[in-house]
Amino acid sequence: MNDQVKEPGMSALFTPLRLKDVTLRNRIAVPPMCQYSAEDGFVTDWHEAHYAGMARGGAGLVIVEATGVSPEGRITPGCTGLWRDEQIEGMARIARAIKAAGAVPGIQIAHAGRKASANRPWEGDDHIPDSDPLGWPTLAPSALAFGGGLSKVPRAMTLDDIARVQADFVAAARRALAAGFEWLELHFAHGYLAQSFFSRGANQRTDQYGGDAAGRGRFLLETLAAVRAVWPENRPLTARFGVIEYDGRDEETLAEAIGLTRQMRDGGLDLLNVSIGFSTIEGRTPWGPGFLVPVAGRVRREAELPVASSWCIDGAEDAERAVADGQMDVVMIGRAHLANPHYPYQLALTLGEDRPAWATLPAPYAYWLSRYRGPGKGAAQ
Ligand SMILES: Cc1cc2nc3c(=O)[nH]c(=O)nc-3n(C[C@H](O)[C@H](O)[C@H](O)COP(=O)(O)O)c2cc1C
Repeated sequence: MNDQVKEPGMSALFTPLRLKDVTLRNRIAVPPMCQYSAEDGFVTDWHEAHYAGMARGGAGLVIVEATGVSPEGRITPGCTGLWRDEQIEGMARIARAIKAAGAVPGIQIAHAGRKASANRPWEGDDHIPDSDPLGWPTLAPSALAFGGGLSKVPRAMTLDDIARVQADFVAAARRALAAGFEWLELHFAHGYLAQSFFSRGANQRTDQYGGDAAGRGRFLLETLAAVRAVWPENRPLTARFGVIEYDGRDEETLAEAIGLTRQMRDGGLDLLNVSIGFSTIEGRTPWGPGFLVPVAGRVRREAELPVASSWCIDGAEDAERAVADGQMDVVMIGRAHLANPHYPYQLALTLGEDRPAWATLPAPYAYWLSRYRGPGKGAAQ
């Protein structure tokens, strides 16, 4: 475990974290957040401005949104991709912009499985039919629809499909490396393909990829091993994984998920981004400040692996306590960054960090803000 010594006067949240050869300047991360603004998988000017802005706000790590390992693995037609070499260049510009702002550039690579081929959230969030030129047929462990607006029945994957998707993950990881990303996150969460393999409800296979926890975990472990073989040992390889569904079978799911996390750790995983399964429409998530923190802490203790997590851990005291109490190593803060891209500066002010502007913001902002009393507080000093 990577427990850095806390310097006097420095909050736990602003203590640097070293993982492999990568050092985060603090424990705040911008989690992957789809922008639904790509064109045929290629990033646009929007992405460059968005990610540069996030990184300039002071987070230690900025993870680029769920990026499809194949066209059919995108959530929506507006999702980014790394299935072609030509897509590397745009991503490289983003990685450079994040790094130039002092944050570590990360990326999440993903296959959306039976939740793919959907409209953007603000255009319905539901499936686009195969008959629409913008839609496509979906793949999953079993031919079972998610339900609700995502009612398309996926094709059950053959063993060849499984091998091809795993090869797509490997190829996308190589391209992420070529683009200059230093932190890779495999999307094994949120009801997308890998989470569906792990889910008892979504995976009804009777072959070696289904059945007991070992069978349902096989796709994840094999994909991790294949990516680990091409992702440099000195750079963090992480995964986002839904360890709980809030479907009434939580203890059973958590026990299986922690068992699989231990195996992933032994297979070379450096950190788990603890999340929610979202693989059943029956889930009843108990939304509230910091509700997932104890779950993340349990995974950290029982799997003996550094963890990150998100979902409403965005209040300064909650985020600070999660790290100070040893529940989490990195706090992912999403929507608060959309509301205020300089949110880490706000956290530094609230937590009484020494020189909060210089601790978070680039010089062209920090110099002035270190002399500024704030809106409505009169003339600058
Ligand atoms: C606009 C938006 C896009 C998101 N896209 C992704 C994504 O690409 N991959 C992912 O794992 N989670 C995604 N999420 C979930 C976030 O990473 C994060 O877990 C969530 O916003 C909860 O954290 P928060 O309460 O700090 O916002 C998205 C969330 C938002 C708001």
